Amino acid sequence: MSDEPLVLGIETSCDETGVGIVRGQTLLVDTVASSVDEHARFGGVVPEVASRAHLEAMIPTIERACRDAGVQLRDLDAISVTSGPGLAGALLVGVASAKALALALGKPLYGVNHLASHVAVDIVEHGPLPEPTMAMLVSGGHSSLLLVPDVTNDVRSLGSTMDDAAGEAFDKVARVLGLPFPGGPHVDRAARDGNRIAIDFPRGLTTGRDMERHRFDFSFSGLKTAVARWVETRHRAGESVPVADVAASFQEAVVDVLTRKALLACKEHDVDHLLIGGGVAANSRLRALAEERCAKAGVTLRVPRPGLCTDNGAMVAALGAQMVSKGREPSDLGLPTDSSMPVTLVQA
Ligand code: KG4
Ligand code: ZN
Repeated sequence: MSDEPLVLGIETSCDETGVGIVRGQTLLVDTVASSVDEHARFGGVVPEVASRAHLEAMIPTIERACRDAGVQLRDLDAISVTSGPGLAGALLVGVASAKALALALGKPLYGVNHLASHVAVDIVEHGPLPEPTMAMLVSGGHSSLLLVPDVTNDVRSLGSTMDDAAGEAFDKVARVLGLPFPGGPHVDRAARDGNRIAIDFPRGLTTGRDMERHRFDFSFSGLKTAVARWVETRHRAGESVPVADVAASFQEAVVDVLTRKALLACKEHDVDHLLIGGGVAANSRLRALAEERCAKAGVTLRVPRPGLCTDNGAMVAALGAQMVSKGREPSDLGLPTDSSMPVTLVQA
């Protein structure tokens, strides 16, 4: 037996039905059922399709997680669930399931923020978070720089994207290049054979007054448009498109801006630990460049393994276990979902 809280976490904010079980800071199981294949032909996640898939996957995924971890539901100390931000219908499936479990088992319920969970998951990978930690969250829906004095109740936003999220830019550029959805991993792979200085794509909000006014904000929509124009010009001229070079040059523009601003934030806020999370943190070039620039700046870099960067239940369980360990009050059983939950609100 252990004194550390045993917590089951449920994640359904987008197209992944994730169920994870964590004991304290130890990950026992991370079970994910994805409906991504059902969305591929639409080129984006279809909310209604995602909600239905969550409904079908929820009970089998919970059962599989418990079986694989050798855990009985009655042994759990708490249930945690993503209550926002995300797709409204998809969130409802997770929150309703978590409430049913909490009520039936008589266990406390924690409704937590998806984005804070992307930060907290690194605790099960690399141990306790230094306080404060600088966190850069880059996913399909969000790009944010966060100063995190305490992931259970103090998350401060330094800046975020003004338009497309980093992952969204990857997905849109992939489409322009004729690569499948979701595009991030495909662009990453194509870029390996390309020249990252072949094309000088724009770095949004990094110079002059833009930079002054939006020091820690991001903008990727101009970059996306520049790539689309460049490709279109080649098509019009009847020339073939060097997919690997475009992918590598686009990717370089994104990760250059991300790492530059993240390290500037570390320097200006005197923080020596940088954590990168969210689906785009799985990007191999982002990981490599961040490693290089952090080493140069004397900043310790933490990036969870790729499987824990994309959406999963372990991250929600990891944050839930922190909430229990730090003695935070559980959420009300009337807990609502909040599809646009602000990043600074850790718990609903
Ligand atoms: O965090 P996540 O799984 O879901 C959201 O909360 O949005 O992030 C998904 C995003 C997608 O846009 C996907 O294309 C991107 O992460 N992504 C990547 C890579 N793997 C996933 N982007 C760049 N390179 C990757 N290797
Ligand atoms: Zn996410």
